[in-house]
Amino acid sequence: MRKTVIAGNWKMHMTCASAKEYMDTFIPLSKEFPSDRHIVVAPPFTAISTLASLLKGTQINISSQNVHWEIDGAFTAEISPPMLLEHNVRYAIVGHSEPRKYFSESDEQINLRARSAQASGLIPIVCVGESIEQRERGEAERVIRRQVEQGLEQTELSNLVIAYEPIWAIGTGKTCEANEANRICGLIRQWVGFPDLLIQYGGSVKPSNIDEIMSKSDIDGVLVGGASLDAKNFARIANYQIK
Ligand code: 13P
Repeated sequence: MRKTVIAGNWKMHMTCASAKEYMDTFIPLSKEFPSDRHIVVAPPFTAISTLASLLKGTQINISSQNVHWEIDGAFTAEISPPMLLEHNVRYAIVGHSEPRKYFSESDEQINLRARSAQASGLIPIVCVGESIEQRERGEAERVIRRQVEQGLEQTELSNLVIAYEPIWAIGTGKTCEANEANRICGLIRQWVGFPDLLIQYGGSVKPSNIDEIMSKSDIDGVLVGGASLDAKNFARIANYQIK
């Protein structure tokens, strides 16, 4: 039985003060979440320490939004595994489409980040997904397969999460149809050849579509952007119901 991981990626949102305000609402609501699901929030680096104190003794885990492959060194603007582990961070998002697009992150760098995360005890959330142009040209499967194969090279498959996030569904309100998201997640699991691989869907997940998405057999969780910025919405997502 694969576990479920419900993660909120706050991206470049939330000061320490707003993160605290959020948790004043979210922590009490989290007490009602069924214990079978792992809840994760990925704040900006500056709010990690604040969250580490607030979340002690709760079932809510912290993820970083990135991690470097070196332990320390001259890498301006980067963050290393020990810096995150010091604050009880458990997960690290790598290969999100935004750094892929804005900072030209390569599959090779993403793979180094994932391996470094695992080597130091963090669980990487490795993001993959095609652009609208690639989908329209019929290249979606080839693109995703390449990202998966290169991103996961020499990683431990039982200790990571893949997030399938079609770029055209991110922040657009256009969710990928649940059956199509499920089909791609199933393909990823088949290509990798590891039945217990954890795979999330991400892209315009919200309270109104979470129940349908989570009812699909190959989707083990979600990576939520915009809708995770509101504590009540994210609590509803974490509390998804399968009918
Ligand atoms: P949205 O939920 O805002 O579409 O963002 C998805 C995402 O990029 C999560 O990492």
